[in-house]
Amino acid sequence: MSVHVQDAAAGPNAEAAVKRTTHQVGSLKRKKEKGEKIVTLTCYDYSTARILDDANVEMLLVGDSLAMTVLGHPNTLSVTMEEMLHHVKAVARGTKYAMVVADMPFMSYQADPIEAVKNAGRFIQEGGAKAVKLEGASERIVGVVKHLVEIGIPVIGHLGFTPQSVNTLGGFKIQGKTLEDAKRLIGDALRLQEAGVCALVLEMVPVPVASLITRRLRIPTIGIGAGNVCDGQILVVDDLLGRYSELTPRFVRRYMKSSQLIHEAVSAYAADIRSGEFPNNDTEAFGFPEELVPDLALLFEKLV
Ligand code: KIV
Repeated sequence: MSVHVQDAAAGPNAEAAVKRTTHQVGSLKRKKEKGEKIVTLTCYDYSTARILDDANVEMLLVGDSLAMTVLGHPNTLSVTMEEMLHHVKAVARGTKYAMVVADMPFMSYQADPIEAVKNAGRFIQEGGAKAVKLEGASERIVGVVKHLVEIGIPVIGHLGFTPQSVNTLGGFKIQGKTLEDAKRLIGDALRLQEAGVCALVLEMVPVPVASLITRRLRIPTIGIGAGNVCDGQILVVDDLLGRYSELTPRFVRRYMKSSQLIHEAVSAYAADIRSGEFPNNDTEAFGFPEELVPDLALLFEKLV
């Protein structure tokens, strides 16, 4: 774990010159050991990354949820490697302290383990991510996890509702509700830990099942729709900020209504333009040397 004194230009935290941890696999694991909650969010762009990093969010996941929140698709299936990489680079450029995690998009790791290694490697080498996340725990996926861990790429697992399997799961549905399903989930979690994942996202899992998995695992669990029993929490940042309203799952808590605030700001801007109030020529525009204004008028006359 490395510790920096935050630089003066960074934001509200800067004034106190707070000592900040540069988060990586080890620091998240230590938080579990100390019983400290891990704060994580999704993030898709540079300026949001700067704000979240400054607000001490410990892990930023460039989630394939950007297919829905940023690109307007109905689910996560259509986002490509190139699109994900583009956003991972932007988030990495805006982040100093948080651990940036790249979500491996659908079909970037399922078909061929060699392809999976190459794609994960691009997120680390070109994108600046510190880890990748992938969904599921089938034999094939566990094999991919082992390959990645073996070559030094930290991997985060994702169980419960796995959005890339939305067509098999029959919609956005809670998982692990029967004893049999709960047993399978616990087995999957242990198998992923054995394969070497450094953390595990549990999405839409009943609280007692998430609690059991969290207590059984050495690695941290990060919950979304799995109750406060997990070692950390994640939300889609657009949900938290209230700027994505196509889908509002039960587990989302909106901390602001930013679409309303943006609407109000843009309406005020439009009104100021229409009334001539914006921009102010004295304070929001550029003048011309006073003594040259008559010559400018003459020049204009010659031109017309
Ligand atoms: O893509 C995503 O946003 C995710 C989180 C919901 C964990 O995978």
